[in-house]
Amino acid sequence: MKKIIDFITEELRNAFEEAGYDPAYAKVTLSNRPDLCEYQCNGAMAGAKVYKKAPIMIANDVVEKLQNSERLDEVTAVNPGFINIRVKKTFAADYLNQMGADGELGVTKTEDPKMIVVDYGGPNVAKPLHVGHLRSAIIGESIKRIARKMGHTVLGDIHLGDWGYQMGLIITELGKRKPELPYYDETFEGEYPKEAPFTIGELEEIYPTASGKAKEDEAYREEALHATYLLQNGHRGYTAIWNHIMNVSVADLKKNYQNLNVEFDLWKGEADAQAYIPDMIERLKKEGYAHVDDGALVIDVQEETDTKEIPPCMIQKSDGASLYGTTDLATLVQRVGDYHPDQVIYVVDKRQELHFVQVFRAAKKTKIVPEDTELKFLGFGTMNGKDGKPFKTREGGVMRLENLIAEIVEEMKKKISENRTVEESEAQQTAKIVGMSAIKYGDLSNQASKDYIFDVDRFTSFEGNTGPYILYTIVRIKSILNKYMAEGQKTDGLVIREAAGDSEKALMLEAAKYNEVIENAYAELAPHKICAYIYDLANAFNRFYHETKILSEEDENRKKSYIALLVLTRKILESCIDMLGFEAPERM
Ligand code: ARG
Repeated sequence: MKKIIDFITEELRNAFEEAGYDPAYAKVTLSNRPDLCEYQCNGAMAGAKVYKKAPIMIANDVVEKLQNSERLDEVTAVNPGFINIRVKKTFAADYLNQMGADGELGVTKTEDPKMIVVDYGGPNVAKPLHVGHLRSAIIGESIKRIARKMGHTVLGDIHLGDWGYQMGLIITELGKRKPELPYYDETFEGEYPKEAPFTIGELEEIYPTASGKAKEDEAYREEALHATYLLQNGHRGYTAIWNHIMNVSVADLKKNYQNLNVEFDLWKGEADAQAYIPDMIERLKKEGYAHVDDGALVIDVQEETDTKEIPPCMIQKSDGASLYGTTDLATLVQRVGDYHPDQVIYVVDKRQELHFVQVFRAAKKTKIVPEDTELKFLGFGTMNGKDGKPFKTREGGVMRLENLIAEIVEEMKKKISENRTVEESEAQQTAKIVGMSAIKYGDLSNQASKDYIFDVDRFTSFEGNTGPYILYTIVRIKSILNKYMAEGQKTDGLVIREAAGDSEKALMLEAAKYNEVIENAYAELAPHKICAYIYDLANAFNRFYHETKILSEEDENRKKSYIALLVLTRKILESCIDMLGFEAPERM
């Protein structure tokens, strides 16, 4: 559906043209003085030089042509040459009725659906999930949902870190504790046990212990490195342990991500890429893309236009081991072969940017990905504590995701119980739903690339720019609609009429922006634009709510129109929070 601002721009273009000016000057923006007008056009100022006229004269000429506009009202020229615009109430109402009748609420799906892989989450198996992984999961999930809303085909891939040194550490430590296990017996030829030799709880303790020991003890570290080497070269017993680690960890990860409302289509990881490495390296050598530098195999990625040095992408160490970049290139081989993506988006900590510059350039140069496949790095900033330093527990340790969620949910439960609108049994469930909005909105409302401060008090507040405030607004609308229905009335099929009051019209114009906001949020991969929008929309609704008697309105047609506006506002808010990855409870 055409955007409301495009309708207005079209009117202005016609008027510029009719008045003898270039319609290219008819650029319309939202008003930055909402007290004076709703939209504005500053084109007369831009045209003044070209036409050698005072801007106000141009503005007057244009305004004159708009006096009988069907869509615009009160179009005025203001010194030195602004054109102030309000839209007709009938036009706003018509536009919203069209939106309401459209299954997509006015969002035009792409005519050219792309196949997009989103690489996000990226947890490292057997290491605790910490808040750093939270951002990737939250942002990536939202990007996936926004792209789907626009009609693209999206595959979310968790890209597990499951092939590293941590595996060697666990194998080593387990061997010290249970040397009698058959995995360590080089002569063992029977079948290995089906049961894992550890629980998730034990595994979570084994890794940090081993990692601590390796830092202190050189010999221990050597042993772990060697175990990693053996695993990566097909050691039978270690591969069996690796499988146990994967089974136990992935089950736990699935639980954690489910808790977060984050859903991956693909549970692939670094280990899956290994099979593609030998052939890839062979080709890169044969075709002259890779060369040996100081014993290592590298691909040069420096480009002439670079202002700083971009080191080569290293794909094999002198001892034959592959690296992070090798795995990412091999993963691209697999992705291109299996899914033919038009775009691959990586949602990763921005401190890894250089790595991705190297990988992307190497992938393009070596034709691992076709010329027209877009590789995109969406780097995010650090989540800090109130002290401005990376988020820690009260004791100063790394905050585990589960604990962080538990803390927020606890805080939410306190607040919800204070309100006493819900039963104790419902309070826990509601606290979880609202807590999720606090975490996700708190994260997504910041531009992804920026660092932000995770402030439990602020994020869980029911007032201000927060997830709970948005949910509270939705719940308020639901409750009015429920009361209306309890009177035996239907809420669908109603018509929105011309606004009677200012706050009502303001709400209508805010609602009308939905398609523009979503299309922009997708174009810029910017969920924070959706947050900013629903905050404005919720504010507009609440202003309207406080100034209007909705259910006690006596004029039946007006009341129905209010209800229709509420229905639409609710649909928009719910669609937006779904794209952000959370939902609203029935009560709170
Ligand atoms: N596992 C990595 C980490 O924790 C993130 C993986 C990002 N994705 C990728 N394709 N490299 O830092």
